[in-house]
Order: sequence, then structure tokens, then C-alpha cells
Amino acid sequence: MNVLVVGGAGYIGSHVVRALLDASHTVRVYDNLSSGLRRNLQPEAEFVHGDIGDALALRSAMRGIDAIVHLAAFKAAGESMIAPEKYSINNISGTINLLNAAADMDVHRIVFSSSAAVYGEPEYLPVDETHPTNPTNYYGFTKLEIERIMAWYDSLRGIRFAALRYFNAAGYDTQRRITGLEQNPANLLPVIMEVAVGRRPALKVFGDDYETVDGTGVRDYIHVTDLADGHVRAVDKLAEEDRSFTVNLGSETGLSVLQIVEAARNVTGRPIATEIVARRPGDPARLTASATQARETLGWTARYSDVESLVRTSWFAYQQLLA
Ligand code: UD1
Repeated sequence: MNVLVVGGAGYIGSHVVRALLDASHTVRVYDNLSSGLRRNLQPEAEFVHGDIGDALALRSAMRGIDAIVHLAAFKAAGESMIAPEKYSINNISGTINLLNAAADMDVHRIVFSSSAAVYGEPEYLPVDETHPTNPTNYYGFTKLEIERIMAWYDSLRGIRFAALRYFNAAGYDTQRRITGLEQNPANLLPVIMEVAVGRRPALKVFGDDYETVDGTGVRDYIHVTDLADGHVRAVDKLAEEDRSFTVNLGSETGLSVLQIVEAARNVTGRPIATEIVARRPGDPARLTASATQARETLGWTARYSDVESLVRTSWFAYQQLLA
């Protein structure tokens, strides 16, 4: 198929492009390079430098396209509470532009990068897709709102969507082909890696008094190569069946902050200093996924999301900073 990957130069997008190419799809990347990186562009994919706000450019990028994977969005939950306008425009209005262009250009399949942030504070674990949606930050709200808009475009314009609710994406391409590092990362594993290479003095651990295995926050980390595989399967599924669906993509395993730090010390051989600080507002103690739906709908399971693979593949990417 001819697949347009909007946001295909970003951290997750570039891995999705790689997986689509590996599965013999033809790929066109559309990205404004605001956080995406030129070095993430894969030579076999066509590149269109454009913004999701540019309705005309989007339309022309959709010529000859069979399916869209949409990952163009801001994703910092904390920032979304301080600068909601940015998230309204890029995430919500941007997606409306994209849907309008798709309707206009007769593209009827969209795989959307959603998030576990749509659920908010978990009421039970593991979180399945029927869990109430009650986002606790504006970023999560934008993802939920987009899912709702897509449901309307499904019934009114026949655009079928796959909403993939990611848990905590981490790691780098298991075949080491993508090495573009995120700028100013706030997520746990890249921050740990920056400590390992000496870019930061210590990891600030946001609270060690949660009711968890060691008092630190527990999350469901999903390897980006596994995530990418989920997108390829979702593209194929939308082509096979004329039906929209929403699934979690998670490893179904909880890892604490300190468990990851420990694994990182083993893999890197570096001390990785930590400093316990106050809890970060809005952080739940634990968040883990049920991935039953993804298994049943897509035949998908996480294969590289063990702590060792998460850390080892990240370390490979970050070692370039030591060169
Ligand atoms: C958040 C969002 C999620 C979003 C993801 C990507 C929520 C509830 N979650 O996940 O929707 O897709 O970011 O941006 O909004 N930690 C530290 N020190 C650090 C960084 C993190 O201790 O310097 C801890 C956190 O407290 C947490 C865990 O590490 O327990 C993971 O944090 P993080 O990587 O920021 O992801 P989430 O907040 O889980």
C-alpha cells in the first residue's frame, strides 16, 4: 500500500516508517521537523516538508495514498497544562485539517497515535479499553477529543480509523537503524540515558512513597519496535476489514523507576546517580495495560518490551553522545 506517515520524522514515527518499509509498503513522510529530525528520515521513503496546519499541502501529499498513519502532535503532558493553546491548535485543529483533507482526497483509512493518557487516574488495573476515560491533563484530553471526532468522521464520511492507545513508549530500533535522539526529553528512559552519558548530574526520582514494589512509580513500558509493529498490523487490518477499532498497545508488565535504573546500571556499567524529590503532580502510582484487544484484533504481542531490551537499545542510541 501507499502510506502517508504524518509526523514520520519523530521518535515513534521514524520507527513506524521503518516497519512499514520492512513490510514492503511504499511510504511518504509528511513532517514539519519541529521536533522530528532529518537524520530520522529513511532513504527509501519520500519526504514532504509540511505542517499539519497547511490544508493545501496536506491535500497534495495525500495524492495516491491508500492509508494514513497520523502521529503529528505535541506530547508533553506537563506543558499541555501551561500552554493548552499550542495543544489545541496542533493536536486538535491539526487533526481536523487532516480529516478534512482525507475526506476530500478519498483516503478512507487512518491509524491514529492515541495515548493511555485518555484514561486518567486508573480505577482498576490492568486498564482495558472499556475503562472510563477521564484525562487528568490537557494533552490526554486532546487525544480523547480526536478519537471522538474520528468516530463522527467514520459515520459521516466513511473514514475508518484505528486508535492505538500507547502506554509508555521507550527503546530504539532493535536493528539499530534509527539513532535520532529526542531534544530536551522529559520521559524516564531518555533522562536516565542522559545521566548515563554525563549530560545530567542525576535522575530526579519523582517520589518514593507510592504503594508500589519499592515506592517509586510503576508504568507499562512498551518497546518502540513493538509499537511500530502494531501500526503495520493496524494498517493491514483496516484494509482487510471495513471497521474502525480502538486498542491499547502495552506490554502488560509493570516496571518501577528504580527497577529501570538498576537495569540501566547493569547495561551501561555507569553509576547513574539518583535524587529522590517530591511526587510530580498528576502522576498515578501504577499504570499497566491489558493488551487482550490488540492480541485479538491484530494478532499483536509485545516481543521486545522486557527491561533489558528497552535499556540496551536505548543505550546503543545514546552512546553516540560519547563519541
Ligand atoms: C506521560 C503521559 C503519557 C504520555 C507520555 C509521553 C500522563 C499520565 N502520562 O507518561 O500520556 O504519552 O508521558 O510523553 O500524562 N519519572 C521520574 N523522573 C523523571 C521522569 C519520570 O521519576 O525525570 C517517573 C515518573 O514519575 C513516572 C515514570 O518515571 O513514574 C514515567 O514517567 P514519564 O516517562 O514522564 O511518563 P508518564 O508520565 O508515565
